[in-house]
Parts: sequence; C-alpha cells; structure tokens
Amino acid sequence: MAELVWKGKKSYAAIAAETALATQQLYIKEDHPCKQEHSASDSQMWHNRLLHGDKSSVLAALLNEFATSVDLVYIDPPFMTGRTFSKDAQVAYSDTWGNDLDGYLQWLYHTFVLLHLLLASNGSLYVHLDWRAAHYARILLDEIFSTHSAGAGFRNEIIWQYQSGGRAQKSYARKHDTILLYTKSPQYCFHPERIAERRGTQRRNHMRKTVKGDGHVCWTIRSAGRLYTYDEDSLITPTDVWSDIHHLHQKDPERNGYATQKPEALLERIILASSEEGNLVLDCFCGSGVTPAVAERLRRRWIACDQSELAIEVTRQRLLAQQQAPFVLQHVVR
Ligand SMILES: C[S@@+](CC[C@H](N)C(=O)[O-])C[C@H]1O[C@@H](n2cnc3c(N)ncnc32)[C@H](O)[C@@H]1O
Repeated sequence: MAELVWKGKKSYAAIAAETALATQQLYIKEDHPCKQEHSASDSQMWHNRLLHGDKSSVLAALLNEFATSVDLVYIDPPFMTGRTFSKDAQVAYSDTWGNDLDGYLQWLYHTFVLLHLLLASNGSLYVHLDWRAAHYARILLDEIFSTHSAGAGFRNEIIWQYQSGGRAQKSYARKHDTILLYTKSPQYCFHPERIAERRGTQRRNHMRKTVKGDGHVCWTIRSAGRLYTYDEDSLITPTDVWSDIHHLHQKDPERNGYATQKPEALLERIILASSEEGNLVLDCFCGSGVTPAVAERLRRRWIACDQSELAIEVTRQRLLAQQQAPFVLQHVVR
C-alpha cells in the first residue's frame, strides 16, 4: 500500500508502545466542581467529561479507561492555517507551525493513532479539515485504518460547501471544507434514514412526475432498461455533498464568540447518522463546545477536550446554559 513518509516519522507501533508507557504515569484529576457540575466521585453513575489539556496527554490518559470503547469521534483540528485565533484580546489558540509540514504531519498522525486505539471495534471517526491538509490526512488514515482490520477504513469524503468566505483573484474561490469518515471495521453504525430528506413534489434530476387521482405525486425514471418509481414521501439517500448547512454568521444567536465555531446542524447530522442514544462521543479539539452540546441534546455520553483555557471556559458556559445532566471538569496529571 502507498505510504506517506516525512522526516522523523514514528510508526504506529512506536507511538502505541510509547503511549502505553506514558499512560501508566498519567491520571485524570478533577478540578473544583461547581454549580451544575458534579464530582465524579459523588456516585458510580456516568458523568460526561470536559478535559482541559493537550490532546497527547489527555488521549493517552483516557486509554486507561476507554481503550476500544469510544463509539464516535469527531475532530476539527488546527488546519495549518498559519493564523492565531483570538476572542477579544485573549488568544484562543495558535495554528502556526513555522512552515514545518513534517512536524504537523507527525502531530496529526499521532492524534489519529491514539484515536484509533480509543475507537470501539464498530466505531466511526470523522476528521474535519480543508484544502491545506485533507489530502495528507486521507493517506495517513488509509494507512492506520486499513492495515489493522480487513474491511476497515475509508467510507466517505464529505464536502461541506458554504457561501461565506473571501473571493479569490488567481484561483477559484475556496468554498468547502472536507470531512473524512473512517470506520474501524466493516460493521459500524450508520442511519441515513435519520438525516434523509423527503423526496417531495419538486422536480429533481430528470424524473417524470405523475400525479395520482388522490393528488399524491410519484416520480419515475428509466435507467438501463428498468423503470424506477418513487413516492413523494420516500426518503432520498443523503449524499456526500452538504450544501444546506450554513456557516454561522457574525450575529447568529448560536455564536458564542469562539473564532472557529462550527454550526450545531453539522454535528447533529454526524451524531444522528453515526451513533445511538447512550453511545460515547469524543472530541479532543472541542473549541466552542459544539460537539458536547449537541451530543448532550441527542442523549449521547460525551468526552470533550481542548488545550485552550478560553475554549474550556466557553464550552463550560455553553453547557451550563443548556438544560443538561451534570458533567465534570478535569485535567491530566503526571
Ligand atoms: C478548529 S478549532 C475547533 C473548533 C470546534 N470544532 C468548534 O466548532 O468550536 C481547533 C481547536 O483545537 C484546539 N487545539 C489545538 N491544539 C490542541 C492540542 N494539542 N490539544 C488539544 N486541543 C488543541 C484549539 O485550542 C482549538 O480550540
């Protein structure tokens, strides 16, 4: 199989071995519980977790408890934009890598390996990137997922198309992000019917419309000598181009001021399609807290992490403002 190589590449096996050693020296400690947050030691009940820290130590520490247990991962890591993002005067996070592509690739690969170790055997991983790194990520993920289990690997390259953003002078304007879907085995959770659109009465494709006596609409199309008929109430299989979800505009009530905040509708689609109620959802770059907020609303268990103090505070406030079960705020200590 084709493999992407860079200066100083560490293999999957080396990362897994190093992490196994690190994991023994790391444990998760609770911060001061407050208001609706509960102490994990209060009871044996499950509590959702918001972790402040670098993904390397957080994911390594989580392996103690959650190896092969996470049902769904969504990540929206730094894209190598070369920018520093702030809210008011406070820096949220820096996405500058000093043009060190080797360093960025190793960082990304390391993240993917740890997430692969955490994923359940029927788990799914969504990786949200853009034109800067999506092509590298695909080769890294192919290597990690396909070499470890037959039938595992690539499922979709989702194009999230939007209207916002700048114009280009000497190229086509870049108006989409890429979300890669990989699964750890050929058995995985996928419910297209939950996110499907009703066919309806508007003409699509080259179909012929028939209106029945009762006013009901049917659509027909002939292909390869066969006639296909669909009722207006039938569901259309969702495609890998998502153009119906808009970026949050500056005054959108959903906005909480975190620079790279994604819309809830995006996470809702992902979580509904690829998990069941009670499943465990993980996001180790949670930023504005969109993943835990939506996971909570859809009755999934969640673990969210970010290294940025601002992200943790914004997420914490967002979760406290939402009607929800108690959660714990934690960090990793050595
Ligand atoms: C693109 S933003 C995520 C935005 C998020 N999906 C949302 O909708 O708000 C990337 C996040 O990754 C976090 N981050 C960057 N490096 C990290 C690291 N090594 N460990 C944990 N979080 C990190 C940043 O602080 C930032 O919040």
